Amino acid sequence: MSKFYITTPIYYPSDNLHIGHAYTTVVADAFARYHRQIGDDVWFLTGTDEHGQKIQRRAEAAGIGPQAFVDQIVRNIDNLWQKLKISNDDFIRTTEPRHIATVQAIFDRLYQQGDIYKSEYEGWYCTPCEAFWLERQLQDGKCPDCGREVELVKEESYFFRVSKYADRLMKHIEANPEFILPVSRKNEMINNFLKPGLEDLCVSRTTFNWGIQVPFDSKHVVYVWLDALSNYISALGYPDQTPNFIKYWPADLHLMAKEIVRFHTIIWPILLMALDLPLPKQIFGHGWLVLESGKMSKSKGNVIDPGVLIDKYSLDAIRYYLLREIPFGSDGHYSEEALVLRINQDLANDLGNLLHRSLSMIEKFNGGVIPAPGSYQELDLQLIRQAEESVSELKTAMENLEINQALISIFKLVSRANKYIDESAPWSLAKQADQGERLNTVLYAMAETLRVTAVLLEPFLVETPAKIREQLGMNPQGDEISYVENVKWGGLKPGIQTQKGLPIFPRIEAEKPEVKTDAPRKAESKKNETKQPEVKSAQISIEDFAKIDLRVAKVLDAEKVEGSDKLLKLQIKLGVEQRQIVAGIAQHYSAEEMVGKEIVVVANLKPAKLRGLLSEGMLLAASNDEGELAVIRPEATIGEGAKIK
Ligand code: ME8
Ligand code: MG
Repeated sequence: MSKFYITTPIYYPSDNLHIGHAYTTVVADAFARYHRQIGDDVWFLTGTDEHGQKIQRRAEAAGIGPQAFVDQIVRNIDNLWQKLKISNDDFIRTTEPRHIATVQAIFDRLYQQGDIYKSEYEGWYCTPCEAFWLERQLQDGKCPDCGREVELVKEESYFFRVSKYADRLMKHIEANPEFILPVSRKNEMINNFLKPGLEDLCVSRTTFNWGIQVPFDSKHVVYVWLDALSNYISALGYPDQTPNFIKYWPADLHLMAKEIVRFHTIIWPILLMALDLPLPKQIFGHGWLVLESGKMSKSKGNVIDPGVLIDKYSLDAIRYYLLREIPFGSDGHYSEEALVLRINQDLANDLGNLLHRSLSMIEKFNGGVIPAPGSYQELDLQLIRQAEESVSELKTAMENLEINQALISIFKLVSRANKYIDESAPWSLAKQADQGERLNTVLYAMAETLRVTAVLLEPFLVETPAKIREQLGMNPQGDEISYVENVKWGGLKPGIQTQKGLPIFPRIEAEKPEVKTDAPRKAESKKNETKQPEVKSAQISIEDFAKIDLRVAKVLDAEKVEGSDKLLKLQIKLGVEQRQIVAGIAQHYSAEEMVGKEIVVVANLKPAKLRGLLSEGMLLAASNDEGELAVIRPEATIGEGAKIK
């Protein structure tokens, strides 16, 4: 068993956190859950970075003491992580005594060994970034990182002999190509910071006091980044050789966004070198979640609250969107439209529908009991191979830190399974008396795919896997067997009674745009020419109407029903689902002219048998007293599955 120590940045409790912070934390959570799932001994740390000039000023502006100020925000952060079901093993606050003691011990040791010395700092400071800048590093007089105003600082300071370790760091980066990822960030660090030469770093401040006191000089507080970075070892108990420190250090993965990679790949490794400690294995700087209005930031006020989104769309929908939508490492655009699209396409249509139609068929064709499979044919083997491929692709993706690819691999299996159902057509097997074993094999394969999918989804979605298992009639918590056993085909026990439930991801219907009704419709201009029959029917409410699931469907295939001059048998596609309907239109339409047409069907009509043929739904057509008939079609191509209301 190997160990896996993963961290997020410790966030500033200068304001409530937004979806950008949630992104890093959900990604870290998914890695932590994955490593636990494959049997690693995981330690997952997150926390808050509570000192510094920025926080002190925010507290002053709020008119309360800094500790009371951060306490209230940290409570909100804690609630947010609970709501997102973040599985962190520890939460470190830099105002905790255990952390303060570590930072003071580190500062003392570095001073004793001559790596910290007293001098005077004169230069620039960016308070939002809590960063020192040299004159030559400024861009147009502003902070090169965030573009905001910098302040001139001149004060007595302690300095850390960073320059002494620069060569060693460069060698380490070159010898360990996976130390800083993605590679573009590594090159940026080498070219922009290491090559121009490192200056010794100012590591104490005297002009404010919200920080950890320098143990031997009470005028000074420790520079907030030295304080903050130490969290990764203070939380393990350093400098004591605690069991946690011995077991988990060095970290396997420090996760963060790109703007703080510099602190983690230059200052942090050098600090560790000075302490004679091994360096973290990987530092990964992902991209930013950006809005149309630019990068989200607490100070800009254009932030998205993940808590609100969870209430609106469900936790797993948000987790899925964050993990799937943003190519890990690059910037990604956040938009609610894209979120809704993902929910509808991947979760409602692909995954939700796979579960729902599989269980419907098991219910209908086998009394809701998982049958035992017979012998597998090539079509089944293709599905089984896809399941195996998805498992191995997911593993590779997680090892390469391509978390969005991991989800893509899982959904390849989901799509393959939907296609498998279309191709194996259990509804027609059910009608053939000699196809009982074949039908059992197909139904089993559908259910087994769902079981495997639930296992694969577990690190990413935290409620859905249990829901899938519950509907399959399994123990929702899953079986206590190894990952390798769990992802192996054939684990589902035949004979269990399924429990079909509600759709796990209901489609999100777009908020309706205002419909303009003043434009005359084409038909109305003809109003006076034709005799209008009087319309006399009982009124219904909008709720009554909403019970009818009207959908656009595409006709894939059509043929005349033998022995009937009225009926056409149509194979239609409704979203991912394929069905057969039988319609009395043969005297008006030929089979050939129906193929390829988009039509409108009542999708939730109770299936019926016409001339012994199953009809799952009804096509809509208009007819008049003259006996003419016209099939209703959308006015423009809208795509099968589209809802009509
Ligand atoms: O920098 N997109 O804290 P911080 C993606 N306290 N990720 C984002 C994001 C966005 N729009 N906005 C924030 C600090 N993040 C220091 C860290 S660590 C020793 C000290 C995430 O509150 C991302 O992980 O400014 C980013 O690096 C971090 O929040 C910055 O959080
Ligand atoms: Mg920041």
